[in-house]
Amino acid sequence: MTPDLMEDRAQALAAHERKLAASAGGRWEGGFGRPMAHGVPDFAQGVALYVEDVTVSFDGFKALNALSLAIGVGELRCIIGPNGAGKTTMMDVITGKTAPDQGKVHFGSNIDLLRLRENEIAQIGIGRKFQKPTVYEELSVFENLELALKADRRVRASLFSRLTGEQLDRIGAMLERIHLKYSAQRQAGLLSHGQKQWLEIGMLLMQDPKLLLLDEPVAGMTDEETERTAELFLSLAGEHSLMVVEHDMKFVDQLTQGHRKVTVLHEGRVLAEGLLSQVQNDDRVVEVYLGR
Ligand SMILES: Nc1ncnc2c1ncn2[C@@H]1O[C@H](COP(=O)(O)OP(=O)(O)OP(=O)(O)O)[C@@H](O)[C@H]1O
Ligand SMILES: [Mg+2]
Repeated sequence: MTPDLMEDRAQALAAHERKLAASAGGRWEGGFGRPMAHGVPDFAQGVALYVEDVTVSFDGFKALNALSLAIGVGELRCIIGPNGAGKTTMMDVITGKTAPDQGKVHFGSNIDLLRLRENEIAQIGIGRKFQKPTVYEELSVFENLELALKADRRVRASLFSRLTGEQLDRIGAMLERIHLKYSAQRQAGLLSHGQKQWLEIGMLLMQDPKLLLLDEPVAGMTDEETERTAELFLSLAGEHSLMVVEHDMKFVDQLTQGHRKVTVLHEGRVLAEGLLSQVQNDDRVVEVYLGR
C-alpha cells in the first residue's frame, strides 16, 4: 500500500470508529459484543417482516396509503410497480428513515420497528442497499469488506486489530460469492458499476442481516452482471429474507423462477400479489404499469 492509501485507510477506519461510538451512546447495554437492549427478532412464526395499514403523507399527498404486506422468513420477494408507487418510501419506513402517520411495522413477531431508530434497525439485522453504490472508492475491495466486518457490533475487535483466521476466511468466502475474488486488491473506485454494486452487497452481507432490502439493484448493470446478480440473490434466499424492488422484468422473472410471489404496488398500496405470470395478466396491473 502506498503511504497515501494508508492514510486514507486510517481516516476511513477512524471515521467508522467515531460513527460506532456515537451510535452506541446509551443504547448499547454492556458495550461491544453483548446482546442488544432492544432484543432479538423472533422468527418462529415464519414471518420476517410484517407491515400493516401504513400511511405516509407528504403535505397531504399519501405516498403510502394503508399499505399492508408480509414477507416470510427466507423468502425472496420482488416488489414492482410504476414510478411514484411508494416502493422506496416503504423501504424508508422499514429502515426508520421516515415515520408513518399510522400503521404497524414488525420485524419477526416481536420487534416493533417504529420504536427504533435507523441505526438500531440496522443493528438488529436489517440491511439496506440504495440504488447508488456507496463503497470507499480509495480503499481496496478487500479493505472495504474488512471495514464492514469490523463495523459489525457483534465482533469484539478494534478496527485496527489484525484479522483472525476465521475473519480472513469469511472475507475470502464473500469475495468468491460476489465474484470479486480476482479483484481483492483492486481499488474499489476502479471497479465497474456492477462490481461496485456487488461489493456493497458483500459489505452488507458481512454483517449477516436477516432481512435485506434492495432498491433497484441492477439498474445500470450489463445483462451479464444482471444475470449474475440474480444468481447471487437466489443463493441468499432461504438463509436471508430479501425484498427486491425492480423495474427490470427479465430480472424479476429470473428471481421468481416461476414459483415465487411478486407484489405490485400502486398509489401507496398493494394492487396485486401473486405469481409473475398471474400479475402480468391482471388487467389492472397492465393498465397502470406493464402495459405502458
Ligand atoms: N420526501 C418527500 N417529500 C414529498 N414527496 C415525496 C417524498 N418522498 C417521496 N415523495 C413522493 O411520494 C411518492 C412515492 O415516491 P417513491 O420514491 O416511494 O416511489 P417509488 O415507487 O420508489 O418510485 P420509483 O420507481 O420512481 O423509484 C412520489 O409521488 C414521490 O414524489
Ligand atoms: Mg424508488
